[in-house]
Amino acid sequence: MKILLTGGTGYIGSHTAVELIKRGYEVEIIDNLFNSKITVLDGIEKITGVKPKFYHADLLDTEKLDEIFTSNNYDAVMHFAGLKAVGESVGKPLLYYYNNIGTTINLLEAMKKHGTKRIIFSSSATVYGDQDGVKLTEKNQTGIGITNPYGQTKYMIEQILKDNVVANPDFEVTILRYFNPVGAHASGFIGEDPNDIPNNLMPVIMKVSTGEIPILSVYGNDYNTPDGTGMRDYIHVVDLARGHVMAIEKMGPGVQIYNLGTGEATSVMEMIKAFEEAGGKTLPYKITARRPGDLAKIFADPTKAEVELKWKTELTVADAMRDTINYLNCLKKR
Ligand code: NAD
Ligand code: WQD
Repeated sequence: MKILLTGGTGYIGSHTAVELIKRGYEVEIIDNLFNSKITVLDGIEKITGVKPKFYHADLLDTEKLDEIFTSNNYDAVMHFAGLKAVGESVGKPLLYYYNNIGTTINLLEAMKKHGTKRIIFSSSATVYGDQDGVKLTEKNQTGIGITNPYGQTKYMIEQILKDNVVANPDFEVTILRYFNPVGAHASGFIGEDPNDIPNNLMPVIMKVSTGEIPILSVYGNDYNTPDGTGMRDYIHVVDLARGHVMAIEKMGPGVQIYNLGTGEATSVMEMIKAFEEAGGKTLPYKITARRPGDLAKIFADPTKAEVELKWKTELTVADAMRDTINYLNCLKKR
């Protein structure tokens, strides 16, 4: 089975490429390298022994896309490509709508024209909007209280995928709503290495530990949580990647939607402590004001994926911290 990964040199795409290759799938990647590096392909090869075929191309380039689909017969597409910086999306909404939605429409057009019917889409817990402190199931409402254009693009793309299936009932769509991916491959060969300035907690922790960012700002300690700091459902990226393998093996007609999370919430202070314990050194931090739009506690009910995909997270936050530190050490040696 041959699968095209859009955004496959990115953080989640690269880990998914590894898990797919390990399961015997043929993987090809298209990425414009806006937020990833070509050397990721070497990392995938070191882990699996296979270097996926790579197209350095932009999904907004419809001619190139048509060319790629003309010369291949893909059984499925996993659509990771997109811009994902929440704060940036507020300042550059048109860029986010154009890139995230434009790429998806181009991809669906190319798939339809060339007879590729299966797509797995990287959605996000952000589609649940401002629902705070409840274990989110796939039945929870979506689209209400989304506070930024990035989140809106995820919600809109879910709708586009659903509408496209109504018009093309032979399409098979799986929407995976990721919670907070963290960690790296245990080998240290791939991990999160963004080109942009990070604003998610884990990449910031990484940059504070290397001294690139002087101090971690903890955004508020007056939330209604046991230690007052925000709580999230941090999922190890390798568990998340395995979720894609289980999803592709279970695809069927219509639209399937799954939360991929652990079902547990961890606070910012607990994350700092876990990193310190794994690395054996302290992480400088200060308590600052809340970040606008943040909620106290967001976590998944992953039961549907457990029952239907036979998928369950196996790795812990401590594993993610260990693998992140190992990855940072490997980066230093390169
Ligand atoms: P990433 O930035 O590491 O990977 C995305 C890749 O897409 C990058 O390599 C980038 O160069 C590529 N890309 C962007 N626009 C493109 C275009 N027009 N043409 C070709 N390539 C393009 O991000 P990630 O963390 O691996 O996320 C993958 C997907 O998962 C994204 O859609 C993201 O929104 C979604 N997601 C991520 C998180 C998270 O916290 N990391 C959470 C929920 C959902
Ligand atoms: C986690 C916690 C912060 C940075 C975002 C997107 C969401 C999804 C996942 C893609 C919160 C706190 C953070 C820092 C801090 N991405 N924090 N200091 O906000 O859950 O979700 O990423 O789809 O759409 O919105 O993740 O990592 O930004 O924050 O104290 O420097 O860490 O307040 O409690 P979030 P995050």
